[in-house]
Amino acid sequence: MTTERELRVKPIVNGTVIDHISAGQALNVLKILGITSHTKSVVSVLMNVPSGHMGAKDVVKVEDRELDPEEVETIALISPKTTINIIRNYEVVEKFRVETPRSVVGLVRCGNPNCISNTNEPLESRFFVESEDPVRLRCSYCEFVLETELAEHLL
Ligand code: CTP
Ligand code: ZN
Repeated sequence: MTTERELRVKPIVNGTVIDHISAGQALNVLKILGITSHTKSVVSVLMNVPSGHMGAKDVVKVEDRELDPEEVETIALISPKTTINIIRNYEVVEKFRVETPRSVVGLVRCGNPNCISNTNEPLESRFFVESEDPVRLRCSYCEFVLETELAEHLL
């Protein structure tokens, strides 16, 4: 139960609460959502909030906005246990856990500079998901394995 003294950020009226983000990934979530200093909507970012089963988590609340499927898929790559809560008129009307896709197309840059997907060929990057948590991706063109610093490879 949240008491007045514990309250960190107020409930929101409408929008999306991105909860159970792996601690340390909130700023990458903002990047995925394209949230910058130019963003006009109200955004709350909590980092390293104590959380029962996760130890610590990050939370991002974006008011008056719902996410598109590609944004949700990309969040799954950097934080597979994230929950998306859609809020309408203060109520959680939808709650789901992000799902790691079986393959990832056009979202991540291959870490191999010589990979054909990093040349001028008109090819989208393409990875097979070998493991979900932690996420491990294998390039379909050159077999390069991406498993750390995934956020730095987002396109
Ligand atoms: N939340 C919010 N504004 C609302 C309703 C909910 O910011 N109007 C936030 C809550 O603070 C929580 C998340 O949305 O971080 C999910 O809300 P809820 O399902 O009520 O919380 P829990 O049951 O604790 O969620 P879970 O079981 O997913 O941990
Ligand atoms: Zn490659």
